[in-house]
Amino acid sequence: MTEDYRSAVAFVTGAASGIGAAVTTMLLERGAAVIASDLSEKGLAFHVDRYGDRVFPVRVDVSDEGSIEAGLAAGVDRFGRLDRAFNIAGVSKGAMIVDLPVEQWDFNVNVVLRGVFLSVKHEARIMRENGGGAIVNMSSLNAHVPMHTGAAYASAKAGVEMFTKNAALELADDGIRLNAILPGLIDTPLTQRRLTNGPLMEHWLTRIPLHRPGLPEEVAQAALFLAGSEASYITGTSLVVDGGWEITGYPDLRPFS
Ligand SMILES: NC(=O)c1ccc[n+]([C@@H]2O[C@H](COP(=O)([O-])OP(=O)(O)OC[C@H]3O[C@@H](n4cnc5c(N)ncnc54)[C@H](O)[C@@H]3O)[C@@H](O)[C@H]2O)c1
Repeated sequence: MTEDYRSAVAFVTGAASGIGAAVTTMLLERGAAVIASDLSEKGLAFHVDRYGDRVFPVRVDVSDEGSIEAGLAAGVDRFGRLDRAFNIAGVSKGAMIVDLPVEQWDFNVNVVLRGVFLSVKHEARIMRENGGGAIVNMSSLNAHVPMHTGAAYASAKAGVEMFTKNAALELADDGIRLNAILPGLIDTPLTQRRLTNGPLMEHWLTRIPLHRPGLPEEVAQAALFLAGSEASYITGTSLVVDGGWEITGYPDLRPFS
């Protein structure tokens, strides 16, 4: 797998924080050149300080088509081509449906779902000129499991999962593989408010068979596998990375048997 990335050029969205930062670091550790994009330029400086000119930092708003197109073009101009892409940027701003302002619905859907559509559209246009590539989209366990106040986010993440399958179907003839990852509870800035709530975590961890939140690096390992040559026959599928959370829907009958 290390060899796999030594001469690769990768594009990452959401590269400044959490899972996107972990993917960017892992790609750079394995020798890739990375077009590291985020809405926040500040968080990208960390990668440049550590890995120098193998990183091309670029401010991109994934919900804005012109921004994605320009960011990708500048990166490809710098490194010459594009082999892999990791669409990780995301936001989650929740409210109960009856109180959910339409602007907040649009905000979640525009970043999460429209952002992945726009990213894949422009990544694929470049990759097919290079003879193919691989793309990983970050969905969520919420694509399968709803949560209170999560209607916009969960619906958008379910959309990301189906969009990935549709894109895998359409782009197979161009030599482009696409897969989605559905993380459960991962320890990142996005989840800090919940992770530091003791009573909530005590309850939550009873639903996770591995009894802990995941690390961003554990999601990054799955992402690099799916985008790498070891996954050469895998396209249009989803990988749940959740410590077993999804399989705990059934009540624990042991105390009653
Ligand atoms: N942390 C979890 O438990 C968890 C679980 C399931 C799915 N996810 C998904 O994983 C992805 C990464 O989440 P994270 O936990 O690392 O969050 P994070 O908040 O640490 O990182 C998200 C990054 O996306 C960037 N971003 C936000 N809006 C953007 C925009 N319009 N354009 C470009 N960049 C933008 C932010 O600046 C930030 O750097 C998200 O898509 C999230 O929904 C996270």
